[in-house]
Amino acid sequence: MLILGIESSCDETAASVVEDFRSIRSSVISTQIEEHKKYGGVVPEIASRRHCENILSVTDNALKEAGVTLDDIDAVAVTYAPGLIGALLVGVNFAKGLAMAKGLPLVPVHHIAGHIASNYLTHKELEPPYLCLVASGGHSLIVEVLSYTEFRVVGRTHDDAAGECFDKCARAMGFPYPGGVHIDQAAQLGDHDSFRLPHPTVAGSEYDFSFSGLKTNVINLLHRADQKGEAVNRNDLSASLQYTIAGILTDHTMAAAQALGYKKIALAGGVSANSGVRAALSAACKKRDYEFYMPDKSLCGDNGAMIACQGSFNYAAGIRADESLNAYSTCSIEDMLR
Ligand code: KG4
Ligand code: ZN
Repeated sequence: MLILGIESSCDETAASVVEDFRSIRSSVISTQIEEHKKYGGVVPEIASRRHCENILSVTDNALKEAGVTLDDIDAVAVTYAPGLIGALLVGVNFAKGLAMAKGLPLVPVHHIAGHIASNYLTHKELEPPYLCLVASGGHSLIVEVLSYTEFRVVGRTHDDAAGECFDKCARAMGFPYPGGVHIDQAAQLGDHDSFRLPHPTVAGSEYDFSFSGLKTNVINLLHRADQKGEAVNRNDLSASLQYTIAGILTDHTMAAAQALGYKKIALAGGVSANSGVRAALSAACKKRDYEFYMPDKSLCGDNGAMIACQGSFNYAAGIRADESLNAYSTCSIEDMLR
């Protein structure tokens, strides 16, 4: 079975061909980061335009690299939610066009389900049920993966996502967009005990997250130092911030795992590339003798392979869309189309 996956929810135009659920035949990603860097964040209008310009060649290259044509493809899978609405619409309409022109089934894929599926591409033996921490630029979720196509959210953020916290603190420290990876690099050279940062919790919701207080604390710390003419060691602050975020994500995930009886834990989303988060969650699982899975670093960020992989499971479960498929900027993974 060959599934073509198309992703355009944010600032990466991506397409991939995945064979028999878990084997990547090709994966092509055209990133717009250099363009958005000038503005310190993603400019939605520019993102949509670039997707329009790139989607045809990206898809064409994915088919060529896989050594197939559309005639060999069994279904077209596409991210329809959540994300930037204009960006999503480019992928959705392109996929609809392909599916209709070739008489192929159209399979809608929820972006977060796609991130979770990046683990199936990395670990051929991984099967639900398990508990997954999903941390990206727009989401911080603890998800019960009940089956390949059924999810229950047990923890969510009440304000900023973990990636947003990394990026906004990085920006205040003078790192270019997207700052998460720069914090990660600087953290390798710093001491995580240098700054005592808060661990905000949400009263009454043990597994939920709140990162805006941590972000404000870092920004205020930088402003105060600036006003006093003092220099802040960026490596030390990066190490302390990364240690704190990794600690919060890990503590909440472990608490949920213990309460819900999960001994199999996975990590997903753009922030899963963070070395501190990978190490902290991995160590916490090892200590408790839990199985731990994380995606290969090449699959942590947005890509088409994770969409093709989840698309394969959706397709096998009979999940289909027709030409009325719309894009949605927000949509819980619990409510994904089925
Ligand atoms: O999943 P993703 O590519 O896009 C969304 O769906 O949001 O996640 C992007 C986020 C950004 O906030 C980016 O800074 C963060 O993932 N990120 C990292 C690292 N690599 C990417 N954050 C911390 N450390 C990293 N190494
Ligand atoms: Zn993403």
